[in-house]
Amino acid sequence: MTGPVDQWDMHPQHFWLRGTQPEHPVEYDESVGMWHVYGHPEALEILGDPATYSSAVAARFAPAEQAAVAFDGNLTQTDPPEHQKLRKIVSRTFTHKMVAGLEERIRDLTHELLDQVEGDTFDLAEALAYPLPVIVICDLLGIPRSDRDQLKAWADQSLAARGQLTTRQGDAAQERSLDDQAEAAMEMGFYFLERVAERRRSPGDDLLTRLIEAEVDGERLTDRQIVNFTNLLMFAGHITTTMLLGNTILCLDAFPDADARVRKDRALVPTLIEESLRYLSPLAAGYRLTTRDVELAGRRIPEGQVLEVWFSAANRDARVFTDPDVFDPARDPNPHLGFGRGIHFCLGAPLARLEGRIALGILLDRFAELRTDPADRPTFLTPPDFTGVWSLPLRVNRQ
Ligand code: HEM
Repeated sequence: MTGPVDQWDMHPQHFWLRGTQPEHPVEYDESVGMWHVYGHPEALEILGDPATYSSAVAARFAPAEQAAVAFDGNLTQTDPPEHQKLRKIVSRTFTHKMVAGLEERIRDLTHELLDQVEGDTFDLAEALAYPLPVIVICDLLGIPRSDRDQLKAWADQSLAARGQLTTRQGDAAQERSLDDQAEAAMEMGFYFLERVAERRRSPGDDLLTRLIEAEVDGERLTDRQIVNFTNLLMFAGHITTTMLLGNTILCLDAFPDADARVRKDRALVPTLIEESLRYLSPLAAGYRLTTRDVELAGRRIPEGQVLEVWFSAANRDARVFTDPDVFDPARDPNPHLGFGRGIHFCLGAPLARLEGRIALGILLDRFAELRTDPADRPTFLTPPDFTGVWSLPLRVNRQ
């Protein structure tokens, strides 16, 4: 038994979550026309060399025109020097100081959401793990909380459409899925375009206004770049922290010793969160494109090939982590790749860590027991590159 992975049969094809090390850290997968990268040192080599391993990979999955429109201003798809410029502009608006200033608001909001929970059973995703990060990002952007349901509908449509990506041309399922995702992103885009126009007319004290006004070397973001960036924030805000919270509770439920240890010593909450990101990495994979012929772990990879870099497999690499399949809430050091590495390191990491730390602390304070319910199983996001719950029914005992 390997904890929550076997308990809930998560991603049956992800062998690395089940105690099996890969035969080779880099493998070509004929069925999807991509290279899987499973190893930690190999992932670091890729993430540290954006000139050789480009992030502008969307055009290999979607028609080039669709990719160009949908990803202009999307940091995850941009290479240097453009990436450096964009990241500098958005980092000016999304600062550590601003995030640290949210602590009290996140605390109040978590209590407010949990106050609405009645009885001794509830769905953690619905009650807290989903609304908390979304409300925080809506507030930051200056978007009315009341538009949350509409934003959720677009994010869900986009998520539901996602499957295993393939570089094979003419894959009908992928074409349908990308069309669905593009439709949801476009509708969300029009929504944000209207909000941008409103802010241009009457600026506010919010992230959207700061994105409009931010300037680096005399350059500002275009409306399309602002819209694509806010789409990315909204999407990241919708699911990633939700997965982190859900995964952490799943681990504490599956490993009662870890649960008891953290309850006894709350100073472990920050390392618990890092271990959760390693053990069940919400963003399980990222994609890169080779810009020249390369040799990686002894494999010769030609120019123009897509690599699926499995952060979640690298996070179980026995060459880097002692006892990689042991869930250790005090693991330190923990050089996991749950937030990526290098120039694309997650911009929202300080916010996700803060939300995770506060929400978990409050959950442990308010509930003496948080247990899954074998009769009402959690459901999971299906795309292979996401690892996290869609719903997480819990039975609880209040303190
Ligand atoms: C990038 C994971 C939360 C915004 C990334 C990357 C990872 C990641 C792995 C790098 C992808 C790559 O290199 O291909 C996560 C996880 C989160 C989380 C596990 C929560 C537990 C957030 C939040 C936000 C956010 C809350 C913002 C509201 C971003 C942005 C990038 C990014 C903008 C692109 C950075 C760049 O390309 O320069 N995230 N993320 N993330 N994340 Fe997060």
